[in-house]
Amino acid sequence: MRGAVADVTDHGALDRAIDGAAEAYGRLDVAFANAGIDPGVGFVGAWAGGQRPRVDEGAFELYTDERWNRVIDINLNGIFATARAAARHMRSRRFGRIIITTSLAATKVEPAIGAAYMTAKAGARHLMHTIALEFAAYGITANAIAPGFFVTNIGGGHAHNPEVQAAIVSDIPMHRVGQPDDIKGLALFLAAPASEYITGQEIIIDGGWGLGVAD
Ligand SMILES: NC(=O)c1ccc[n+]([C@@H]2O[C@H](COP(=O)([O-])OP(=O)(O)OC[C@H]3O[C@@H](n4cnc5c(N)ncnc54)[C@H](O)[C@@H]3O)[C@@H](O)[C@H]2O)c1
Repeated sequence: MRGAVADVTDHGALDRAIDGAAEAYGRLDVAFANAGIDPGVGFVGAWAGGQRPRVDEGAFELYTDERWNRVIDINLNGIFATARAAARHMRSRRFGRIIITTSLAATKVEPAIGAAYMTAKAGARHLMHTIALEFAAYGITANAIAPGFFVTNIGGGHAHNPEVQAAIVSDIPMHRVGQPDDIKGLALFLAAPASEYITGQEIIIDGGWGLGVAD
């Protein structure tokens, strides 16, 4: 077991980390481009429920270049640079599994988070399609996992807040939020021989949230 830390906005450092892993193991089988950040407040101030007041701070007209560029740099450009560094080791071996994390927000606009997030995730999904097409002939697959609402440390860990969870589960057909364990099975499947003939797909894991409100 070995590990290396790199900032995905530093593409040179990212290349060195991935090259180092490939060198240490003699090959690179799987790349999981998962790093991402929360974009901060959107144009409404709550995640779910009837009370969703508009917030000036998140208004589109006030969106700063700095905020926009930071989210695109990590959530889209970081995926590009990670997949590119991995692909360099995969094409010649004619084998590889590239998995990226998108979001339900690539499909469904979530107004509680800033517009750059939807843009980055939708862009990452179509980048995944492009990579999948280019590399299909080389035995390399590219697929995406699109989570709904998960309890992680993103955005300062707001998803750990019981009030936020209570509001959101009323909109999720399975009536519970996602936990990191809910991702594991799909991540392993997309890295395993069982998914060999699947490429260019985004699979949403959201307890049915994207389908609509049930009961
Ligand atoms: N939590 C959710 O509800 C949710 C929903 C949809 C999609 N996602 C996506 O899931 C992925 C993982 O996020 P998470 O929810 O586990 O949040 P998290 O904050 O717990 O984990 C994000 C990870 O990305 C890393 N990271 C952030 N910026 C980085 C950078 N510049 N360079 C290298 N690493 C960096 C962090 O160190 C952290 O390990 C992200 O792409 C996120 O957009 C999360």
